[in-house]
Amino acid sequence: MFRVYLAAISSYVPENRVHNNDLPLELETSDEWIVSHTGISWRHLAADDESPSTMGIAAAKDALTKSGVPPEDIGMVLLSTTTPDFAPIPSTACVVQEGIGAKNAVAFDITAACTGFVYGIELARCYMQVHNKPILVVATEIMSRAVDWSDRKTCVLFGDAAAAAVLLPSPDGVRGIVDSILLSDSSGKDVLTIEGGCRTPTSRKENMQLKVYMDGTAVFTFAIRTIPSIIQKLLDDNNLTFDEIDWIVPHQANYRIIRSAASRFGVPESRFFINVQNYANTASASIPLALHDMEQQGLLKPGDKIVTVGFGAGLSYGGNLIIW
Ligand code: UT7
Repeated sequence: MFRVYLAAISSYVPENRVHNNDLPLELETSDEWIVSHTGISWRHLAADDESPSTMGIAAAKDALTKSGVPPEDIGMVLLSTTTPDFAPIPSTACVVQEGIGAKNAVAFDITAACTGFVYGIELARCYMQVHNKPILVVATEIMSRAVDWSDRKTCVLFGDAAAAAVLLPSPDGVRGIVDSILLSDSSGKDVLTIEGGCRTPTSRKENMQLKVYMDGTAVFTFAIRTIPSIIQKLLDDNNLTFDEIDWIVPHQANYRIIRSAASRFGVPESRFFINVQNYANTASASIPLALHDMEQQGLLKPGDKIVTVGFGAGLSYGGNLIIW
């Protein structure tokens, strides 16, 4: 097996940036509550003329330009979203494929909630072993259209963003995805849901609003248990110690979850990249958005060892060990 690396990464966030203090008054929330319970201060919210596909296309075009790969060379467009353009067909991946002109690719969506990018790059790595063509992995989310804006327990937590990565064979056989762990615990399938699919009889669908239901405590408990276990297993399976890892890049859902993981390893929080304060929880876009943010801040250099770790509805969870 050859190694597959992230040759280019990019992201897109909508222009409209909203502070906790500017959320609707009717929510009866406060900057103090949101910051102390989540670490979130800001989120970006999509404009009416934006969609998951337009945002994904913007991120994808930039990643393609950076990689130097022409769109017609892309063999697969793999797109992760919790908030597809259509419910459920055609796939948002097909809309993005057309938008970028990747006319020789297979394009389809994956539904793995906030773990979608972690799943996506591992699936891409495996597919490339057989079909050896460049792959575009996109994660794009407009969570602001899936939350109930009268439910302060959920709507304050999420933001909108897209990110994209171009995957190619590693130039030196060292840089790239070294290992991944992908798991699902469907005993928790009911703790984080967006209803409205074809399981719901037509008679109940009338006036049904798309909205996130979340048992926050159950997801929180799941996350603080599984994040350390995924990191530890990636380390053990690859004979590494925590000290040899340059960065942990966790799903950006809640600062308290990340702080808890850091304390489980007895390491400073600064070993974990955190940008949840600026973007809130952008579901599957959060990890690639974090990677792009790190790149822009000059925090990543070739050879750095990174562990990504994600969790979300399903319940899905997993991580990747990457040499940048
Ligand atoms: O991407 C993966 C998906 N999601 C997550 O990772 C989320 C995981 N869970 C969490 O991050 C936390 O459970 C939350 C941030 C969602 C909630 O934090 P919490 O410390 O577990 O708060 P809570 O749900 O226990 O609520 C405490 C209180 C309640 O009031 P009472 O019943 O004690 O009077 C809530 O009604 O805080 C109240 N509350 C709020 N108050 C002001 C809940 N949301 C808000 C709010 N503003 N936005």
